[in-house]
Amino acid sequence: MAAANRVFIAVLGAGGVGKSFLRQLQAHATRRPSPKLTLCYISTSKKAVFHVDYFRISINTALDALGTSTTTPLELPQVIEYLAAAPGKTVLVDNTSSQDVANKYPVALSRGISINDIFIATTVSGAKVYHKSSVSAGLPLVSTLKDLIDTGDKSLIPEELKTCTNGDDFLEKLSGFNTQIEETKAAAEQAGKVIRFVGIINVPANAVKVRLQEFDRSHPIAATKGSDNIIIFHTKRYGSNPLIMQGAGAGGDATAMGVTADRIKLISPQECVRCRRKG
Ligand SMILES: NC(=O)c1ccc[n+]([C@@H]2O[C@H](COP(=O)([O-])OP(=O)(O)OC[C@H]3O[C@@H](n4cnc5c(N)ncnc54)[C@H](OP(=O)(O)O)[C@@H]3O)[C@@H](O)[C@H]2O)c1
Repeated sequence: MAAANRVFIAVLGAGGVGKSFLRQLQAHATRRPSPKLTLCYISTSKKAVFHVDYFRISINTALDALGTSTTTPLELPQVIEYLAAAPGKTVLVDNTSSQDVANKYPVALSRGISINDIFIATTVSGAKVYHKSSVSAGLPLVSTLKDLIDTGDKSLIPEELKTCTNGDDFLEKLSGFNTQIEETKAAAEQAGKVIRFVGIINVPANAVKVRLQEFDRSHPIAATKGSDNIIIFHTKRYGSNPLIMQGAGAGGDATAMGVTADRIKLISPQECVRCRRKG
């Protein structure tokens, strides 16, 4: 197979999300043999597995190899140089929560390496950034948050706590609102309702609110459980019967699904045309 039809993937992080991502990568590589996905680098903060000649690491046994590896991970700039020199398209998958890694995104992007995560500095090289799983597992919440920021105030801090100088101060004063919240909850219950903390984006009014709101028990928001996230779109088409997106807002498999979906976009046929031109 021509090198230009290969995608070299470096994976940083092999925790809950990283392990699920590898399983999904293996499944995808089996289902879709082209373009050929080559796992060429995998690391935790302490160990790494890679070959200087980009020899393929078996996805199935990558975790075992990582477990027994005595190789120290490359410094991030070296990982970027290693990937940038790979003979094909390259994707860096960040399954860590490391700020150090995130700080290096601009460098990676400027070297034409696409990233499964945040969003900056892509114009010169044409490298892509996808970040579906940065928040709320696989749900596409980051783009919605961007809308929140673009369309107005998004403060989550109660008015009375806005003067707090630091986190400790905030947490100390927070318990002073327990009675108020209990009373609000009890009043809602008496009226056959529940309270939920919701964000509301009113696009025509160019206004954003984040607040506690009462909902009838029959409302979809009232039915959320555990780590569920729910997003309800009231639009021209979905007016009286809104479009509802609901699902797990946490969990390794659900989060890795978002990372995998972004990676699939990165290696879509249109992108691989660009990759062949590069190769
Ligand atoms: N799990 C979820 O439900 C969920 C949902 C939404 C978003 N997320 C986000 O997804 C990310 C990963 O979550 P997780 O649950 O998989 O975390 P985790 O289980 O703590 O795993 C993190 C992994 O990253 C590695 N790591 C840390 N710094 C690194 C570095 N500089 N270079 C290479 N590897 C590094 C860790 O290695 P060591 O073990 O050596 O430290 C570990 O393998 C986090 O940002 C999290 O906020 C998770």
